[in-house]
Amino acid sequence: MLVQLNTLKETALQELETITDVDQLPEWHRKYLSKKGELTQVLKQLGRLSAEERPAAGQAANKVKQALTGRFQEHQDRLKEAALDQQLAKDDIDISLPGRPCHLGHLHVCTQMLRQIYQVFGEMGFQIYESPEVESDENNFQLLNIPAYHPARDMWDTFWVNDQVVLRTHTSPGQIRVMKENFPNPIRVILPGKVYRYEQVTQRSEHQFYQVEGLAVGLNIRMTDLIGVMQEATKKMFGSDRKNRIRGSYFPFTEPSIEIDMDCIFCGGSGCRMCKHTGWLEIGGAGMVHPVVLNNGGYDPDVWSGFAFGIGVERPLLLKHGIPDIRYFYGNDLNFLQQF
Ligand code: PHE
Repeated sequence: MLVQLNTLKETALQELETITDVDQLPEWHRKYLSKKGELTQVLKQLGRLSAEERPAAGQAANKVKQALTGRFQEHQDRLKEAALDQQLAKDDIDISLPGRPCHLGHLHVCTQMLRQIYQVFGEMGFQIYESPEVESDENNFQLLNIPAYHPARDMWDTFWVNDQVVLRTHTSPGQIRVMKENFPNPIRVILPGKVYRYEQVTQRSEHQFYQVEGLAVGLNIRMTDLIGVMQEATKKMFGSDRKNRIRGSYFPFTEPSIEIDMDCIFCGGSGCRMCKHTGWLEIGGAGMVHPVVLNNGGYDPDVWSGFAFGIGVERPLLLKHGIPDIRYFYGNDLNFLQQF
């Protein structure tokens, strides 16, 4: 029996040495060390031995078992380590490399422009106000001197929420809110925000876009203050050699009303494709606050005067970056947005 055990040990160990793949280990274990393995088969014969022979044989059998188990463990560890080394070498992981920076988003191109506008007007003492995008017909139209059925309503194609409520078609209703809230103090604010127009969406017009309203109300405010503020803003935003031009216009809530242009940032005024060969680019509408509107805001027009302006945000951006289509701004196309 001792001979038998010894042979078993020798063959088992020899066979173990030939195993180079971890996957083959369980098979070896089953064959030699499991309950149905060869060692167990030998141990079963212990009962047939005489009482004198049994202890020595039992001890020898245990030693073999220990030896096999130990070597199995060792071999298994070695193979697993080798497999890991191999895997690491193959994957080429360099654990000393610094981590990859995680990707942070950035501000939308319109937000960047808005913040620049806040900065420029902030430096001139304008506070930033926000007013609701869902407005009453009263604030959006009536109190701005646009009665129901007045043909001037055609200037703003409107999304109606119901008979009396609209998505604001411009930021001008904010004028009424600011006046009502601030009377009898002088006012110098800008009101940025989204506005909505029930319009066909095309390359040049969206049904949603940004405006920045400006409003100044005081005891001695004149047209020249308005023009000076617009000139300062134009220069700070588009370069100190920019020139402005004003044209007569019409808005129901300003009197007189003007349109403000600046000389074309591409050709400097000589005429090009961008300015449609006029040499000028539109900045926005403006004017002196209409007496009716001052009155609606609670300010006596015989005592107070004021100016207001409304400038676009997307239009100048289209020009500045040569963007061919306004729909890119809200198309959520990262390839577009990441350029700014
Ligand atoms: N609200 C006008 C528009 O949307 C612009 C404007 C604002 C004109 C303030 C004059 C004064 O077209």
